[in-house]
Amino acid sequence: MPRDRGDDRPFLDARLDPSDWDETRHTLHELVDACVDHLSGVRDRPWRPPAPASLAATELDGADEGVGLVRTAREMTEHVLPFGSGNTHPRFFGWVQGTGNAAALAAEIVAATMNANVGGREHAAVHVERDVIGWARDVFAFPSEASGVLVAGTSQATVTALAVARRKVLGVRDRAGGLPDGADLCAYASASVHTAVRNAAHVAGLGRDAVRLVPTDEDGGIDLASLQEAIDADVAARRTPFCLIGTAGSVDMGAFDDLHGLADVARERDLWLHVDGAFGAWLRLAREPWRSLVAGIERADSLACDFHKWMFVQYDVGLALVRDGELHRETFAARPAYLEGQARGLAGGEPWFADYGVDLSRGFRALKVWATLRAYGSRLLGDVVTRNCQLAAYMGELVVASDELELVAPVRSNVCCFRVADGVVAGYDDDALQERVAADLQLAGEAVVSTTMVAGRTVLRAAITNHRTEPEDVEATVEGVRRRVAAFGAALEV
Ligand SMILES: Cc1ncc(COP(=O)(O)O)c(C=O)c1O
Repeated sequence: MPRDRGDDRPFLDARLDPSDWDETRHTLHELVDACVDHLSGVRDRPWRPPAPASLAATELDGADEGVGLVRTAREMTEHVLPFGSGNTHPRFFGWVQGTGNAAALAAEIVAATMNANVGGREHAAVHVERDVIGWARDVFAFPSEASGVLVAGTSQATVTALAVARRKVLGVRDRAGGLPDGADLCAYASASVHTAVRNAAHVAGLGRDAVRLVPTDEDGGIDLASLQEAIDADVAARRTPFCLIGTAGSVDMGAFDDLHGLADVARERDLWLHVDGAFGAWLRLAREPWRSLVAGIERADSLACDFHKWMFVQYDVGLALVRDGELHRETFAARPAYLEGQARGLAGGEPWFADYGVDLSRGFRALKVWATLRAYGSRLLGDVVTRNCQLAAYMGELVVASDELELVAPVRSNVCCFRVADGVVAGYDDDALQERVAADLQLAGEAVVSTTMVAGRTVLRAAITNHRTEPEDVEATVEGVRRRVAAFGAALEV
């Protein structure tokens, strides 16, 4: 018998679900159509800056009153969807950004519908993440007791890994008391290490300067003799070396550290070996000669890498993999009574991923990775990675064949660094010229290359982590640079 609540308990009429699910279904179908139209025509949709009218149309302006799903969906389609960051386009080579894929798009719809909190407990999402971690463990030949956790990206994965390395060197006192006075822990990485590693040292309480920047050798990898000297100097100064950080794919030039060499030093000196393989780790799936660039990655104590870069999964999803799963769990697991696992029911299940990182509430990132692996398989994904390296090598050849351009560093994997040669456009600052060329190409919607500094000079940089790129896209990009150089030269002569 329903209880008579009486008139003195007037509940607010406040609900979010629609009264008409058919209208919702229709709106979502239209939205999916718009998304698929967008993706299937993505070649005609290079980056363009957000239109002022669209920015105005999407301003929240207090948002006291809702406008309903139908209008909200229309606003997303008209005013947000067209103004992406361009990384879905076949001629996007800026920074290191992945393209996304259709299987992961499908997974995002399912994951959003389920709205699972994947901190732990007994439900499908935990099992899917476990499968993804198991797959990665096999790919990188980590032992069965290794653990892993999906995080926002390599930056967060590096924080996770350094926290475990810190726990290894400090032992149990680490968690309760924090960093002891005078601990003076030092880590070592090549001078071309990504800034995310130094940020991670800061977040781990060590300070950015705890990461010693070791000079590189002629191949762009860490110089092992200089590394030994840097460690000796810290030992002599009574500091505590605890961690080596190898780079598998440097962000500027795509250089690779000698990971076997680093693993040997780590073993000899009893140091933790962490590998930053944000994009380069996936050469593990590539064909030779590129696969060998990551030889030794299987000897790391921890690895950070991204699915959202060179595995083409939608943002954001990175991976922290740790050889010693128990140490990993001990570093983070804290289960007060309200989080205790149970033998039966929803509070059962293992592992609880919240025990392997700082996030308690976690989204279902694993499904888009799982769907990508399931739909395409690692063989095809590895071939796309290989093809990207072939395309980068081709870009390098086109640069070398061009009188106006200069290849700044050998193309080792998927990164091609080049510049308009000095003096080609007389009367123009050579560094400013590179920046101008990059911006003009972007604004014309022709291609996206970014800029960086190599040996104190500004250079153009293309990192190909793009499953849509064809050889013609590489040709058009190099041609676009050359055309601009010719146009600047002509304009300055007038
Ligand atoms: C070598 C390297 N390490 C770390 C990062 C940071 O990764 P994320 O942006 O996923 O945090 C990047 C990003 O480009 C990178 O290239």
